[in-house]
Amino acid sequence: MTDDEDDFRIETRAIHAGQEPDPETGALMTPIYANSTYAQDAPGEHRGYEYSRTGNPTRTDLEENLASLEGGEYGRCFSSGMGAINTVLNLLESGDHVVAGDDVYGGTHRIFTRVYEKYDVAFDFVDTTDHDAVREAMREETALVWVETPTNPLMNVNDIAALADVAHEGGALCAVDNTFATPYLQRPLEFGADVVCHSLTKYLGGHSDVVGGALITDDAELDERFGFYQNSVGATPGPFDCFLVLRGTKTLPVRMDRHCDNARELARWLDDHPAVDRVYYPGLESHPQHDLAAAQMDDFGGMLSFELDGTLEQASEVVETTEVFALAESLGGVESLIEQPAAMTHAAIPREERRAAGLTDGLIRVSVGVEHVEDLKADLERALDAATN
Ligand SMILES: Cc1ncc(COP(=O)(O)O)c(C=O)c1O
Repeated sequence: MTDDEDDFRIETRAIHAGQEPDPETGALMTPIYANSTYAQDAPGEHRGYEYSRTGNPTRTDLEENLASLEGGEYGRCFSSGMGAINTVLNLLESGDHVVAGDDVYGGTHRIFTRVYEKYDVAFDFVDTTDHDAVREAMREETALVWVETPTNPLMNVNDIAALADVAHEGGALCAVDNTFATPYLQRPLEFGADVVCHSLTKYLGGHSDVVGGALITDDAELDERFGFYQNSVGATPGPFDCFLVLRGTKTLPVRMDRHCDNARELARWLDDHPAVDRVYYPGLESHPQHDLAAAQMDDFGGMLSFELDGTLEQASEVVETTEVFALAESLGGVESLIEQPAAMTHAAIPREERRAAGLTDGLIRVSVGVEHVEDLKADLERALDAATN
């Protein structure tokens, strides 16, 4: 795509941004450049690539594609979402302090507390929907405010513009994990975030066949530092992984439309179901941050959680009984998944902390796929019936 690519809508950029036909052969799709090293014309004189940890053409195309989708200048890819999160943490010095949401992804909580606390980085986990609580948690040494929205798995929606302001007032960076929303639904840089983080493993890859991560920013200096850590730490994705994610991003808009439609319908249906006590989905008008979600997002996403009007055992039986919904961790693929966060994705967070954040042991999280919604309803109906009657 040309320099005017910003004139194109996201559906067009998803397919074309960073995707020039191969100059040698005209191949329309970015080839999988399966190379570790590149011939040099003279010592130190190369044609843009010298070693694939430092840079690889398939990775470059993916990085350009993702930067364009987020409306950012720079993109960097990593071998997992955690690799991307680690790179943001690499910016910190010992003695620094981080304020994060109290219901962040379990792996994010784990790297914060079990990896970085031992390097004398301090973390405070607060309710990031309460901006006064965030402001009060800020200290002189606060270098980073970490925001997830919608959150995993309670689907709280955080006000990115307000939290970026609080971070900047305190001289800290604001990083937003945009994995749940994807750039098709929400672009945090537009609201003042400094860094956008992704697990590419989820909606951007979209087919549950690859693990990857990315960071996008408008700040050249930050991007250069991310590039330094990318090369120095080495958590970079291989070209085949980048190819798979590039294949995924092309259909992101059409997939997301169906994910959102199916999730909206399932959320309403579950909300009316006698066996269900509570549904967590920002698209429901009863959701506490529904208006914020409607303003900040273009649609409400494909993730929802719910609690049964029943026992923990009954909740476990539901997730074990569904047939179309696979009992599995992860999310964002075309197929529907179901899980119990307290025993699976969020087991790394101590039980007391989980409960304080409102994450009950019986909470069921669903990644709504793109199957026919009536088949999804029928599958859940069968499982709810078997577990509660
Ligand atoms: C919101 C969120 N961020 C980050 C990650 C970590 O990504 P990865 O599994 O690709 O390392 C996950 C994984 O589930 C996630 O849900």
